[in-house]
Amino acid sequence: MRDPVIGEILVQPDDLKRRVRELGEQISADYAGKDLLLVGVLKGAVFFLADLMRQIDVPCEVDFMAVASYGSATESSGVVRILKDLDRPIEGHDVLIVEDIVDSGLTLQYLLRNLGARNPASLEVCALLTKPERRKVQLEPRYLGFEIPDKFAIGYGLDHAEQYRNLPYVAALGSAGAPETAGGT
Ligand code: IMP
Ligand code: MG
Repeated sequence: MRDPVIGEILVQPDDLKRRVRELGEQISADYAGKDLLLVGVLKGAVFFLADLMRQIDVPCEVDFMAVASYGSATESSGVVRILKDLDRPIEGHDVLIVEDIVDSGLTLQYLLRNLGARNPASLEVCALLTKPERRKVQLEPRYLGFEIPDKFAIGYGLDHAEQYRNLPYVAALGSAGAPETAGGT
């Protein structure tokens, strides 16, 4: 029997694969001759980033940041704390932030401001998922995988209380699970 915490499937494995390949091709074309640095936001984006990076065929590097958002269990406040910063300066690099999901947009807004202040040559966002209905700040990622409805999503890196990141698809949280840690990692 399937785990009742796993609700309806929102994005199937084949669709993830196809879209990641398309994004990789698009990014490879756009960043040819540039100095591409992928900045993964821990932990959720790691799975997407690992697949995406293998579909990019121009030279690129990777670094990671970990952030936590202050706020209630399900709403991020926009006040972000850096838990792990980048290993190296990004001045002059073409930085592409890789995120799992854009919800309110507050975390990304903070990251764009913070990294933007470090004088990268360029700064863009690639997000696997977006929940447009939840957006509190105007922010459109340059590269986007899928729009999903206003449901708490798990799988392919996204967690519910740190579980379910290993699912090969993106699902909605089923009725047996209560949403939490929206401002998580
Ligand atoms: P935002 O600041 O409200 O955009 O929240 C962004 C972060 O909250 C994401 O990077 C995720 O870590 C987490 N998050 C938001 N929505 C979901 C969800 O549906 N499932 C799992 N994590 C989520
Ligand atoms: Mg995240």
